[in-house]
Amino acid sequence: MWMSSRAGAVPGSVFALMDAAKGRARARGLPIIDLSIGSSDQSPPETVLEALREATRDPLTYRYPLFSDTAPLREAAATYLLRRFGIKVDPETEVLPLIGAQEGLAHLLLAVTDPGDTLLLPDPGYPPYLGAAAVAGLKTVPLPLLPERGFLPDLETLPEDLRPRALLLNYPNNPTSAVASVAFFEEAAAWCRRRGTLLIHDHPYAELTFGDYRAPSALEAGLNGVVELHSLSKTHHMGGFRVGFAAGDAGALAALARVKGAVDFHAYLGIQRAATLALSLPDAVGRAGTAVFQARRDALVPALRELGWEVQWPQASMYAWARVPGLTDSVAYAVHAAEECGVVVSPGRAFGERGEGFVRFALVQPPEVLLEAAKRLAGVEIGAAVFRGG
Ligand SMILES: Cc1ncc(COP(=O)(O)O)c(C=O)c1O
Repeated sequence: MWMSSRAGAVPGSVFALMDAAKGRARARGLPIIDLSIGSSDQSPPETVLEALREATRDPLTYRYPLFSDTAPLREAAATYLLRRFGIKVDPETEVLPLIGAQEGLAHLLLAVTDPGDTLLLPDPGYPPYLGAAAVAGLKTVPLPLLPERGFLPDLETLPEDLRPRALLLNYPNNPTSAVASVAFFEEAAAWCRRRGTLLIHDHPYAELTFGDYRAPSALEAGLNGVVELHSLSKTHHMGGFRVGFAAGDAGALAALARVKGAVDFHAYLGIQRAATLALSLPDAVGRAGTAVFQARRDALVPALRELGWEVQWPQASMYAWARVPGLTDSVAYAVHAAEECGVVVSPGRAFGERGEGFVRFALVQPPEVLLEAAKRLAGVEIGAAVFRGG
């Protein structure tokens, strides 16, 4: 009765289904290995935690934070963008703190689009993108990310008359773990500028990169018509803190600030202080957790390839995206695997039609547990599962 058409249009999540399967496996006494959720199991740097503890003892942090109170975080974000990517932004007009990239995207879509506008978005892609688009009343056009193109979209083959209001990209990518070059972002930004489209780049994995690989920023293609969403959730293991920032086109950020002004009062000042410190840390400290995820990748990917599964070697992100030969119903398979052997993975279909045939592993357990998961999955028949619903 009280469900708006906007709320009703938000797609349901397959993760509830997986949760139920997990419950059934647990009831059977199976020890669960849950690799379905991409939430870092590492701790933020100790100095960052200390900054937050300290802030809670400062009564000045107890009041509502105003825009002017966000200046230190905006300045730290601007300094980070300059240090890390060589991008110059004005902290007054070209940076805006967020309560996480997810909050930022949902409100950015409300701020820069009108109901009925078109959003071009990756398929497969992070599932909440569709929910955010539904809340904003947008028409979505899926942009296929195919393994043969390294999971990068082919914008040039899109119809000439397609003029989306916004194009949403995300590299390093969830779920595929693919990465993109500066040249790719330059082409995407040029394509967007030709078509009057805002380029939105969701960049929560900016620092979760392995070895010598460093992810570029879409803002390297210029700030005009580009907004990038940064997050401390993955890069500094601060998912529960709910903090990030948007940077880029001043007009789009002014619109976002208006919407946010009606919705929130910025993050708690203590969280802002912690995030300000996190962004100011030297790279070696800020990237401390990445070696952990790299070691997990090094363990899991060869083990999956041993099973005959096709996995591109992730250079970044916290996922392995595996194409499973013979798999035609990834949801049924994931439910069946959870119930049969207690290993919980995300079915590729949960990320879009182009995700069918794949499963996603979140690298959120130690290497030996990941190897155990691969061993258990080896005993689960592909295609034996028939999804019975529920
Ligand atoms: C692609 C992508 N965007 C956004 C988020 C959420 O980021 P935040 O915690 O900053 O809201 C995630 C989390 O998994 C993600 O994978």
